[in-house]
Amino acid sequence: MLCICRDTRKHDQVLEDSTYYSNIQATEYVRLRIGFVKRLVRMLLQMKMLCAKTKIKKKSMQERNTNYLLLEVYKKNIVQLPFNMVKTKKFILVKHFVGEPKENDFQLVEEDLPALRDREILCEAVWLSVDPYMRPFSNNFPTGVTMTGTQVAKVTESCHPEYKVGMHVVGDFGWQTRAVVNADDPGASLWLEKPYIIPDFSGLPLSLALGVLGMPGNTAYFGFLEICDPKPGDVVVVSGAAGAVGSHVGQIAQLKGCKVIGFTGSDEKVKWLVDELRFDAAFNYKTTDVVEALKQSTPEGVDCYFDNVGGALSSAVISQMRFRGRISVCGSISSYNADISKLPQAPDIQRTVLRKELKMEGFSVKYWNDRWDEGIKQNLQWIKEGKLVYRETVTEGFENMTKAFIGMLRGENIGKAVVKV
Ligand SMILES: NC(=O)c1ccc[n+]([C@@H]2O[C@H](COP(=O)([O-])OP(=O)(O)OC[C@H]3O[C@@H](n4cnc5c(N)ncnc54)[C@H](OP(=O)(O)O)[C@@H]3O)[C@@H](O)[C@H]2O)c1
Repeated sequence: MLCICRDTRKHDQVLEDSTYYSNIQATEYVRLRIGFVKRLVRMLLQMKMLCAKTKIKKKSMQERNTNYLLLEVYKKNIVQLPFNMVKTKKFILVKHFVGEPKENDFQLVEEDLPALRDREILCEAVWLSVDPYMRPFSNNFPTGVTMTGTQVAKVTESCHPEYKVGMHVVGDFGWQTRAVVNADDPGASLWLEKPYIIPDFSGLPLSLALGVLGMPGNTAYFGFLEICDPKPGDVVVVSGAAGAVGSHVGQIAQLKGCKVIGFTGSDEKVKWLVDELRFDAAFNYKTTDVVEALKQSTPEGVDCYFDNVGGALSSAVISQMRFRGRISVCGSISSYNADISKLPQAPDIQRTVLRKELKMEGFSVKYWNDRWDEGIKQNLQWIKEGKLVYRETVTEGFENMTKAFIGMLRGENIGKAVVKV
């Protein structure tokens, strides 16, 4: 038998497999490196020379389901060419979300992946992210597409000189376990122009590349510092305060010498914010009179508001802003599950914005793509100095992506919600 292995790591496994076919002798392993057709022609020529020496049984090979290209040779003739491609599991969006996403809006499917071509890499997901933006953005895509999302993946095959086998990358590969991508031109992507190689995290977990040392971390870093422009002594309010972005913003605000007030959705989260992250005060917006809580905790008014949620909570905070206050509009998760044609009429914030000369600015973190490394370096530095604490809510198993996603939207996460494959 001639085994052409996609991954030299798996040679041992192939050898073990070959004992199953007791009278099959593995004679050569050739890595798939370049385009399939080219390689096949070359290998067929090689086999012509090998086949005289090689005797193998026909039957057993048909039953195999491996990730390798298996070519059978019986005496001098090629008997069959079973070709089992590398497979990926993926979640397809089969229905647009109405209200809260539901399990049956998704379908888990398995697909073959093609062999690599020049500049392409095969990536195997290690960690996947579930993020709030997936809820509103998904309804802009047609049904039938792979759910959008970023992941930390290991390069397991490469036809690209800069992406070596064994490296870990962050890529916008969607909810799938494996992906073949052109590393220079991966196609439409929400966050990243192309996959990037994860820098040295000094031994910290790679999952952080999806959180505090990735997109949410940079959202906190740039979205807060660049838009709110905090000064020592400023009063900062953060909504969604115990989530990936919010918990990070609150800590940067403290580092800048500000007083920090957080709003979040459970008593457990409130306790974490106050006891461990040292927020000056935190409140459960579901059980507290927000207006009253703001009056008591910020009698001097609010200088900076980092808004993750929108809605009534944000209107209350904006009413409490001080002259020339700054509002960074990061997200509006309170309305992501809503039918936007039926949203309640907006309260009049314009008069407050005008009277108090407030600055209110929405942003996408992509705006700072050219400074991406700066954010990651600074956040890493703060973690190493013990100035920035992170937390993750880890869901085990790719099959549980939908549960992790729905759970995050319901507020079941503390810190960054990630899925371990
Ligand atoms: N502009 C950008 O470039 C950018 C980038 C990343 C994220 N974002 C936005 O930033 C916000 C936070 O994102 P994240 O990744 O850090 O997520 P996260 O806060 O870790 O997770 C989402 C949290 O939203 C809260 N939530 C859910 N429904 C809510 C509601 N009706 N009212 C108030 N809070 C609700 C839940 O916490 P509770 O228990 O506190 O309710 C939940 O844990 C989101 O709005 C997201 O869209 C924007």
